[in-house]
Amino acid sequence: MKSLRKDFIEVLKDAENVVFFTGAGISAESGISTFRGADGIWNKLKPEELANFDAFLKNPDRVWDWYQYRRHIIENSKPNPAHLAIAEMQEYFRNVAVVTQNIDNLHRRAGSRKVYELHGNIERNYCIECHTWYNAPGFASSTEDSKVPRCEKCGGLIRPDIVWFGELLPEEDFSNSEKAAEKCNIMFAVGTSAVVYPAARIPLMAKRLGAYLVEINLEETELSPLADYVLLGKAGEILPGILEEVKKLKEKRA
Ligand code: OAD
Ligand code: ZN
Repeated sequence: MKSLRKDFIEVLKDAENVVFFTGAGISAESGISTFRGADGIWNKLKPEELANFDAFLKNPDRVWDWYQYRRHIIENSKPNPAHLAIAEMQEYFRNVAVVTQNIDNLHRRAGSRKVYELHGNIERNYCIECHTWYNAPGFASSTEDSKVPRCEKCGGLIRPDIVWFGELLPEEDFSNSEKAAEKCNIMFAVGTSAVVYPAARIPLMAKRLGAYLVEINLEETELSPLADYVLLGKAGEILPGILEEVKKLKEKRA
């Protein structure tokens, strides 16, 4: 990796609170498709037919089947060097929070401890009538892919715990994300097109309150003009490079 800019290194040196705001691009190198861009899911499929509560009520088997398909891909994937580098940052900064739009649980699997999930988690499911949770690890794989499971208690439809278009974000995760954004010294926006709100408010909020905003993406996004530093390339290559720099800085100080 080419060397990092001096002003960024200065900020890294003194930073105590660091937030990583992540999107589908961070999991692309784990083999999970992104939503927008060349091979994006929403180029081929319509979100209004899948990621939407009315669509689920109209055709629950089809929506369940699609999430089962995604679940199988996610189950067979692993955290990549980008997720692992973020988890290792916990050794070097006082506070590291991950605010993710991803539902794949790869940050936790990589070892990150403070993870706020703005769009839910595909490993969890609940009954739409009585809100009973169905989170046991083998639950989804024990069901038939193309047949939505029913609640044992009330017979209601069971859905994945994913925030669909038009739905509210989980309140506690969102407010924790806002708090983390308010106090961070550095905000990294990694692998996100930053166009889906209110999630995309998080990096903007940090920037407005004085954080140094770093963007890591294959290409420029709507966030780029606001960023203090835009690093173009693969997250799985850039983040391990930043981790190496952080290690050097912290060793020098010790
Ligand atoms: P997008 O698919 O909109 O954006 C992915 C971004 O990652 C793009 O800007 C790519 O350029 C970038 N990218 C791809 N591969 C990369 C790599 N190896 N390294 C770095 N960057 C890379 O995904 P999100 O911004 O996460 O909502 O989309 C936001 C929300 O829209 C998702 O959470 C999802 C979707 O509808 C729900 O499921 C509720
Ligand atoms: Zn129920």
